[in-house]
Amino acid sequence: MKVFVTGGCGFLGSHVCEYYVQRGDAVVSYDNMTKHELNRTGYRTDDVRRHNADHLRGIGVELVTADVRNYEELVDHAHGCDYIIHTAAQPAMTISCEDPRLDMTTNVMGTFNVLEAARRLTVPVASCATVHVYGNAINDTLKEGDKRYLRGSPDIDENHPTLGGVLTPLHASKASADVYVKTYIDTYGLEAASFRLTGIYGPRQFGGEDHGWVAHFAISGVLGRPITLFGSGKQVRDIVYATDVCEAFHAFYVSRKAGVYNIGGGAPNALSLLECLDILRDIVGNQIRVDHAPDRLGDLRYFVCDVAKARAALGWSPRITPRQGIVRLVEWIQENKKLFVGAK
Ligand SMILES: NC(=O)c1ccc[n+]([C@@H]2O[C@H](COP(=O)([O-])OP(=O)(O)OC[C@H]3O[C@@H](n4cnc5c(N)ncnc54)[C@H](O)[C@@H]3O)[C@@H](O)[C@H]2O)c1
Repeated sequence: MKVFVTGGCGFLGSHVCEYYVQRGDAVVSYDNMTKHELNRTGYRTDDVRRHNADHLRGIGVELVTADVRNYEELVDHAHGCDYIIHTAAQPAMTISCEDPRLDMTTNVMGTFNVLEAARRLTVPVASCATVHVYGNAINDTLKEGDKRYLRGSPDIDENHPTLGGVLTPLHASKASADVYVKTYIDTYGLEAASFRLTGIYGPRQFGGEDHGWVAHFAISGVLGRPITLFGSGKQVRDIVYATDVCEAFHAFYVSRKAGVYNIGGGAPNALSLLECLDILRDIVGNQIRVDHAPDRLGDLRYFVCDVAKARAALGWSPRITPRQGIVRLVEWIQENKKLFVGAK
């Protein structure tokens, strides 16, 4: 089959492309090669921007440089595909606050265009939402342990109220896109899924302070750079490895059970920032210097998914543990150290 991946040259998108190439499918990456976040990392921006694209070209992915905000171009290039996986986004909360128009047009109009394309071409589509759609009122329900925030209630499922607490433009745009996916399922019977993703990590993730914290910590750890922890460092996420998410996309393609799904590592793969640093110190053998700064606007202190719905409907469960995944991430960073030279 032919798989059309928006944002294919990004972190998650590159894994999705690779996953389908390995299955023997034809893959098209549709990406505008934006540098918004990369410009802020201090990494070697042009080399970093080319890195995933070069990898994909090398394994036979067709690369299209174009924008999801351009509907006609999107439909044109998606024509003839069997499945659309929409990973293109403005994913950073900080950037959403600085440039809400970029955030809204990319995440809302971009997703709307993708859904319209899928409707016009009559193909299934999976879209990336985020657990930030639940908002951060969860922060008010936590206790503070030595190394992590604790929450007495069960893990968070898809029936949990959305958009609680203090909202940023990213909350608005990602939640709108999530609602649009459900709307297209209900109104047009589109075979669509919205994946509410927790922290994803893995190789080819150019994480920085704004997005991709596991990779940001790992890059800093390998290179011996200090890390600024915003807040106490006790924030908890059930992180999920990139290839596990690829398997979830494929499980949806096979099952076609349309809906909204939490996709995360679940309770066994939950860890706090401080606990992640402990694992990293162990793996890289470096002392990692940590500076502290106040919480950032909109920060969510705790999120652990209940993935029972995805398990039951899609037959999907996460497989890679944080330690296994972080070892692979660190190996990739060590092989590509030169990309990060010149970083802050
Ligand atoms: N990485 C995470 O921890 C995480 C967590 C939750 C949700 N998500 C969601 O998963 C998806 C993928 O995230 P990622 O970490 O791979 O992000 P990423 O920034 O690495 O990749 C996004 C890609 O989209 C492209 N893009 C941006 N605007 C575009 C546009 N207008 N047209 C075409 N392409 C455009 C970028 O050039 C980039 O290559 C996003 O929807 C994000 O919100 C990610």
